Amino acid sequence: GKLVGITIAIDGPSGSGKSTVSRETARRNGLAYLDTGAMYRAATWWVMHEGVDLNDEEAVIESVKKLPVTVPVDPDDQTQICAGEDITEIIRTAELSAVVSTISSYYPVRDILISLQRDIIDAELEADSYSGGKGIVVEGRDITTVVKPDADVRILLIASEEARLARRAKEISGKVDEETIEKTRDIVSRRDRVDSAVTKFMTASDGVHTIDSSSMSIDEVVEAVEDLMRRAT
Ligand code: DC
Repeated sequence: GKLVGITIAIDGPSGSGKSTVSRETARRNGLAYLDTGAMYRAATWWVMHEGVDLNDEEAVIESVKKLPVTVPVDPDDQTQICAGEDITEIIRTAELSAVVSTISSYYPVRDILISLQRDIIDAELEADSYSGGKGIVVEGRDITTVVKPDADVRILLIASEEARLARRAKEISGKVDEETIEKTRDIVSRRDRVDSAVTKFMTASDGVHTIDSSSMSIDEVVEAVEDLMRRAT
């Protein structure tokens, strides 16, 4: 099929391989790429930068309304700029990762970011956009269910706890020994528990294709996504 104006939504827990797969699918098909997790991370950085108490929901909402973020959609350049500062690296630190869930659990904050996300997705269906109207791959926790339930392709990417922990451990500290796995287990399971109270990303809703990446290579998962793209167009 011809790929014109396609929206691909990919949800999943951390360590499922979602970011790598989404980015690579976008790259190979000339599509834009939106990392919604990075938006929650940038919003968290901004709120803290403003000196707002993360536990003060009202103050956090007011602050996020003024979020001065430039959201990147080029899969090869994910430089995150907020208030003129390059926050690409700082939003990936363990310290920041540990507190994102606090602000992402506030529904009015989600509404603000979801509306921004829909605008970015819609813009990519226009000829004068990054993808030239070819479309976008969007990854997160609630894309298939809330942000774009009418996406052309909807995927829930899962992986066994073993596989997820090994990938996260490697990402966080470059190694997969017993000690690192145990440390990672605490961080990841705590975050998934908090996050899944807000977004239902552990089970696929109707019409969402589940791909279990536990024993698949990145290439194999990207090919499975591309297969679903061809069937959808
Ligand atoms: O995918 P990630 O680890 O970069 O996501 C960072 C945090 O943002 C994570 O704790 C869950 C939250 N998040 C969310 O609530 N909804 C999304 N669509 C994406 C991320």
